[in-house]
Amino acid sequence: APDADAPALVLTGNGNTWGCASCHGANGEGAGLTPGLAGLSEDYLAKQLRDFKSGDRTNETMRYVANALNVDEIEQVANYYANLPQRTEIAVDLGGDQAHGEALHLTGDWKRDIPACSSCHGQNGEGVGSQFPRLAGQQPEYIFQQLIAWKGGYRHNSPQSLMDDIASRLSEKDMRDVAQYFGSL
Ligand code: HEM
Ligand code: HEM
Repeated sequence: APDADAPALVLTGNGNTWGCASCHGANGEGAGLTPGLAGLSEDYLAKQLRDFKSGDRTNETMRYVANALNVDEIEQVANYYANLPQRTEIAVDLGGDQAHGEALHLTGDWKRDIPACSSCHGQNGEGVGSQFPRLAGQQPEYIFQQLIAWKGGYRHNSPQSLMDDIASRLSEKDMRDVAQYFGSL
């Protein structure tokens, strides 16, 4: 059941947009291509909503949603999801090689100029500070799709183009492997 303290905005929307829970799940757990939001940092969540609104991050659905939110509502939902406990179990099999995903996460692959994901996203993919989001327990299909989007130039809102550069060096197999790995955490 949804958290009793969830703002009406999360559950039913604000009259101009749907409630977030209708897509992101009653507990902010996400599904498939829709990311989990529970436990992401407040600053990261608010930045993504501002980016959808300004067009710095392109997604038609979230542009519609974010356009319907004012500054206070963005703060309110970011704070709400940042304080929701993250889910831990996801049973999605992308057919990725989890061990190789773990190796990329922990040590990267310097022959191909790929840094360890852990150097920014934390040793256990738990996220670091306000800029580097948690990847552990994120929906694998969503992770895979975001990496594809960066490589293809469809997502370009990463500070200093950090993720654009990294994704450009990942193969589709690498992406599947890391997505499978993070989904397993
Ligand atoms: C992505 C928040 C409503 C579908 C996101 C992200 C945030 C967010 C912060 C990015 C997460 C990340 O980078 O990890 C919200 C809030 C909502 C809301 C606060 C309510 C006010 C909805 C609704 C739908 C939806 C109603 C479906 C109709 C999606 C999808 C993505 C997404 C598909 C992935 C976009 C992409 O591929 O770039 N949302 N969302 N969201 N949301 Fe929402
Ligand atoms: C965001 C994957 C390495 C910095 C993300 C996201 C994914 C990802 C899937 C999006 C999360 C979401 O939408 O919720 C990876 C993988 C890596 C890696 C698989 C290793 C191969 C790094 C490194 C850095 C970095 C080494 C820092 C130098 C960032 C930043 C964002 C991000 C700043 C947030 C972008 C934004 O504000 O929209 N990463 N990452 N990542 N990553 Fe990485």
